[in-house]
Amino acid sequence: MYENLTVERKGAVGIITINRPKSLNALSRATVAELAAAIEELNADDAIRAIILTGAGEKAFVAGADISEFNSLRSAEEAAEYARAGQAVLNRIERLPKPVIAAINGYALGGGCELAMACDIRIAADTARLGQPEINLGIIPGYGGTQRLTRLVGKGMAKLLVLSGDPITAQEAQRIGLVDVVVPAAELMPKATELAEKLASKAPVALRLCKQAINEGAEGSLAAGLDHEAALFGVVFDTEDRVEGVSAFLEKRKPAWKGK
Ligand code: COA
Repeated sequence: MYENLTVERKGAVGIITINRPKSLNALSRATVAELAAAIEELNADDAIRAIILTGAGEKAFVAGADISEFNSLRSAEEAAEYARAGQAVLNRIERLPKPVIAAINGYALGGGCELAMACDIRIAADTARLGQPEINLGIIPGYGGTQRLTRLVGKGMAKLLVLSGDPITAQEAQRIGLVDVVVPAAELMPKATELAEKLASKAPVALRLCKQAINEGAEGSLAAGLDHEAALFGVVFDTEDRVEGVSAFLEKRKPAWKGK
């Protein structure tokens, strides 16, 4: 049982809802630990093919790391370790074999923006606000904000957001590439679920290798990325699902994936 989040299963879609609305779903240490456990639970469940991450209530996705815990960090080493522990969970989400969609239902600030950026695809309600306000606390982002934001929106925009600390609207976030889709608030979960179900209907090995190829390619040179893509193309060619997918197309029928 979890105290700070809920886990639901709707067919092949797993939904993790960070559930601390009184603190605008801020990420306490306990919440980060439960998030790690919930992710592993859904990853280990063969019936689950795609995951949605969202926040409880209408106001916040996640309003950041839990600021009330900051003063308990007693040394620079402890603070660095705190950042590394959070980064490890976000790294796991980013590299998870299954796709993870962030359904951003409200404030995604600090650690909330960082959590969303570790997900594969970001869908936001038109009422959402995103930003990295750490500078206003006299600190810097510690869960990847200076790194993933730069990779998503470029150095100039990342510096504008991180150095000013000002939040931006969902529409502006989409314009700069921080958010992929914006929908009216009432349509957020239906849209996220529809997308998750679509991803869940794809050949699982191919889906995992697409994610892996894009992730690893985005970190290195084009040549290394292309090499990696070719190697993974070889891997996927050896699957039964490749035989099934190609046969189904030629036979004008729907493929029945086996996940191998
Ligand atoms: N950590 C801990 N508690 C938080 C929090 C956080 N990151 N963000 C909000 N809360 C708490 C508030 O302290 C408040 O608690 P209280 O009712 O016991 O006083 C409650 O959530 C509601 O927040 P409140 O500030 O009253 O709502 P608001 O609508 O006036 O403002 C925000 C909303 C998001 C603009 C504001 O809460 C905020 O700036 N939060 C901090 C964002 C931040 O700096 N995140 C990065 C952290 S590194």
